[in-house]
Amino acid sequence: MPTTDDSFRAELRNTKVLEGPFPNLNFDTFPETPQDAFKQWFHEAVEEGVKEPHAMTLSTVDSDGQPDARVLILKNVDSRGWHFAIKANSPKGKQLISNGYAALTFYWPQVARQVRLKGKAVALPDEESALDYQARPVASRASAVASKQIGGDLDRSLAETQAKLAVDPLLGMEKWRVFAVAPQTVEFWQGDASRLHQRLQYVSEDDDTCWKKHLLWP
Ligand SMILES: Cc1cc2nc3c(=O)[nH]c(=O)nc-3n(C[C@H](O)[C@H](O)[C@H](O)COP(=O)(O)O)c2cc1C
Repeated sequence: MPTTDDSFRAELRNTKVLEGPFPNLNFDTFPETPQDAFKQWFHEAVEEGVKEPHAMTLSTVDSDGQPDARVLILKNVDSRGWHFAIKANSPKGKQLISNGYAALTFYWPQVARQVRLKGKAVALPDEESALDYQARPVASRASAVASKQIGGDLDRSLAETQAKLAVDPLLGMEKWRVFAVAPQTVEFWQGDASRLHQRLQYVSEDDDTCWKKHLLWP
């Protein structure tokens, strides 16, 4: 017999969501590519004070066919897709190597906007992973290399790794990988305080520069 928590249910029901007013929107005048549309919305999110607008949820599928998801930072957007950087031997790295399909989701509450995309995640060339690795703060590089030692003396391992990185800034680089999700579909969702939400979906027409736009309802 399940035990239920009515007071928590009530608390959730009383928690506000999608309180306007929100920006006016005309999907008819949206750019031809989802990349340009995304950058436009991203800049508007920044202007409206959205914190960490480059944080997104990456969803993958594990070897049992079960979904898995976590938050990552967006690194770039170009004709190849939406980029992120991860440890190649992490669970998500292994999931992407064995089943390349992935989904990314952004939510920007201050403007009531969500962007969702899904498609194949492709590893970018080694040079791009190396450039991204080199640009990471030394503490981040040290934790990427040293984290395998958990269970031992992590502080000492981190200090030793930082000392090694001072000599070889690219130490551990081969474990770092930049991927791009090349989307088949990208959906832009604008919330509305009176619940007349709007959705626009871009569908890839094989060639990554050619997109069809569809309004979705509801
Ligand atoms: C705001 C935020 C940003 C993050 N950025 C990254 C990132 O860019 N790359 C990364 O590998 N993990 C990032 N993480 C940690 C991941 O969410 C995740 O916990 C970790 O990578 C392990 O994932 P896995 O076990 O599914 O491989 C971030 C977490 C948060 C909350």
